[in-house]
This record gives sequence, C-alpha cells and structure tokens, in this order.
Amino acid sequence: MLENTILVTGSAGFIGSNFVIDWIKAGLGKVVSLDKLTYAGNLDNLATVIDHPQHEFVRGDIADRALVNKLLLEHKPRAILNFAAESHVDRSIHGPEDFIQTNVVGTFHLLEEARAYWDSCKDMQDPAGNSFKFLHISTDEVYGTLEPQSPAFSEMTAYAPNSPYSASKAASDHLVRAYHHTYGLPVLTTNCSNNYGPHHFPEKLIPLCLLNALAGKPLPIYGDGQQIRDWLYVKDHCSAIRKVLEAGKTGETYNVGGWNEKTNLEVVKVLCQILNEMQPRADGLGYESQITYVQDRPGHDRHYAIDASKIERELGWKPSETFETGIRKTVQWYLEHQDWVQNVLNGDYRQWVAKHYDGN
Ligand code: NAD
Ligand code: TYD
Repeated sequence: MLENTILVTGSAGFIGSNFVIDWIKAGLGKVVSLDKLTYAGNLDNLATVIDHPQHEFVRGDIADRALVNKLLLEHKPRAILNFAAESHVDRSIHGPEDFIQTNVVGTFHLLEEARAYWDSCKDMQDPAGNSFKFLHISTDEVYGTLEPQSPAFSEMTAYAPNSPYSASKAASDHLVRAYHHTYGLPVLTTNCSNNYGPHHFPEKLIPLCLLNALAGKPLPIYGDGQQIRDWLYVKDHCSAIRKVLEAGKTGETYNVGGWNEKTNLEVVKVLCQILNEMQPRADGLGYESQITYVQDRPGHDRHYAIDASKIERELGWKPSETFETGIRKTVQWYLEHQDWVQNVLNGDYRQWVAKHYDGN
C-alpha cells in the first residue's frame, strides 16, 4: 500500500517552498522535502512548516540515487513532484554546467529511481485510491521566443529552447516524456510562465527591482525593456500543480499561465507605483527615477505567452490573482519580512547551512 505522502524535490526554493506550505496548511498529507540547499535553497522559506509533524526535510541531491532510493522505500510516496533545478537564465549563460548536472543528469537519476520504485508498487494505491505519479515542473521557456504574429504557446508548440537554462529544462521534459512512452512511467508535466511572489530570490527581475528600489539602487532594465513575459502569482502556480496531480491525465503536459502579458518596463513601472504608495521615498521622488537601462542579456527571448486554455477546459483551473492584485501582495510580503530579506542579502542563510550541514 502507498502512503498518503508526497516527495517534493527543490522544496526550499521559491516555488517548491510555497507549494509545500500550501499543501501542509491544507492538510493534504505528509510531505518529504528533498533539497540540496544550493545558493537558491533557503530553509527560512520552510520556517512555518519545518517542525510540522506532517513534514520531513532532508538535505540531498536528486542525483544521489542511494538517498532517493532510501527515501522512496522508507516513505512509500504516492507521488514525486520534481521542482529541483538550477533556475536562473543569467547564471546559465555565465556557467551552464550546473544546469546540465541538475536539470538533465539529476532528473535522469530521479527518473531511474522513480521507475524502479514504480515497478515495485505498480498495483498499489494510497488510502484514497491514487496510484503512483511523477509530476515534473517545467517552464514555458522551452518553447523559445514567439514571433510577432505567432499564437501563444500551446501544448502542441514545438520545443525551441534558446538559453542553456531552457535547453536543460527541455532535455529534462523530453526524458520525462520518454520514460512514459518507453517504460509506461505515469508522468505529468507542467510548463508554466514567469512566477512572482513570496520567497522569490532577488536575482530575478521582480524581487531584484523591489529590493534595489528600497535600497536606493538602480533598477536594471535589459536592452529596451520591451521584452514580454506572462506573469503568474506563485500561489496560483501551486494550485495548478495540485489540480494536475489530482486530475491530470497521465502522460499529458499542461501549460500554466496567468493571462498577464506585460513588457519588463511595464512590470517595473507598476512595481514602482505600488512602492510609491506603500513606502514612498523620503525625498518625494518616484522610484521610477531609479530605472536604468543596461546591456541586454545575450540571446534574450523577446516574447513568451502561454495559452492556458487546456488546463482551464479539462481540469477547471484558473488563476485567482490578476497581476495588479498579485504584485500588491508580493510587495506587502517583502515589506513585512525584513528578516528574510536581510538573511538573504547578507548571506546568513548560507552560513547556517554551512554550520548545520557542512560542519564549517
Ligand atoms: P529556485 O531556484 O528558487 O529553487 C530551486 C531549488 O532546487 C532550490 O531550493 C535548490 O536548492 C534546489 N536544488 C537545486 N539543485 C538541486 C539538486 N541537484 N537536488 C536537489 N535540490 C536541488 O527555483 P524556482 O523558481 O522555485 O523553480 C522551481 C521549478 O519551477 C524549476 O524546475 C523551474 O525550472 C520551474 N519554473 C520556474 C518558474 C519561475 O518563474 N521561477 C517558472 C516556471 C517553471
Ligand atoms: P528573470 O526574472 O531573470 O526571469 P526569466 O529570464 O526566467 O524570464 O527575467 C525576467 C525578464 O526581465 C527577462 O526578460 C529579463 C529581464 N530582466 C531585466 O530586464 N533586468 C534584470 O535585472 C533581470 C534579472 C531580468
């Protein structure tokens, strides 16, 4: 018999931590959290659930087959949700190796262990009658950039990844797909647009500009700032993943998006307006005055847009937040969580990991 437990990888990162917190708070069952605690993994993100009886945190790598095997046999989870990844495009441009290691090789090792486990529990179900599933969390960036007249990315759009990050995610998606096609592993894949919200690491556009604005630093806009992204509040992404896990059709992929296409410049200007309202600058100037145009990202994708009609039509999922409501909640969260901000900015969360896990 499978347990009503899920194994969540990458649980101390931005989206994984939001997912685990929402899951535990909703009383949906036990979570075993597996995270390597790279620079992007922060146990502060899990602070509200770290000692919860329904949560167990394990530090480790998805590529550590012995560890994954042990966790699967010990906890008999009904699902594995793979959030673990190197996730920042700029880092992938400067140093792609970790992206290949975790996103491609790591996912491969996780799939191999999932396959061996599934072979041993094929006919088993959890108390609610669910059989085992492997849910892979991916990105809309695998589709490459949209041409001006092209329709939004659908599940039928051909993959054309342009950055080392998106290429590594595309490779992992293909492996997941192949494990279903070849071995019958019951997989599900979600391809989501740009997320924002609590716990977002301040190397990404929104949290970087939010914290730079408050610190009186420049708000860097790459190139002309006319690149378009679709933005989704992280809690909406988490609800989509829950929906796909419960009702998605095995072997299918689901695009997840917020129907919120905005240029980067629009995003930063909205952010500035909200900050002007919630925490005005002492000198009375608007935060827009800190916007600074900087050199463009090499190979920068011009336009992403997600057609999320399949998940709405087939599973009845829709986002709850508009960009305006979600961004307001996000700014509020950062203003109210100065401890989190300071720990991230001064690197204290890394020192804690070094002391507790690395013995330094
Ligand atoms: P993140 O960088 O904030 O978190 C990634 C987490 O994975 C970190 O906690 C890190 O420590 C952990 N990790 C890295 N390598 C690991 C390994 N080898 N073994 C175990 N853990 C490891 O990323 P995120 O923004 O939370 O993204 C989570 C997933 O969602 C990723 O797969 C990403 O591709 C996907 N995604 C992100 C977005 C977005 O806008 N952030 C959008 C769509 C899809
Ligand atoms: P980012 O948050 O890095 O996410 P992704 O590259 O996965 O979409 O970037 C979002 C957009 O913002 C992207 O078009 C690059 C742009 N950008 C800037 O203009 N300035 C910045 O400082 C950063 C980090 C991103």
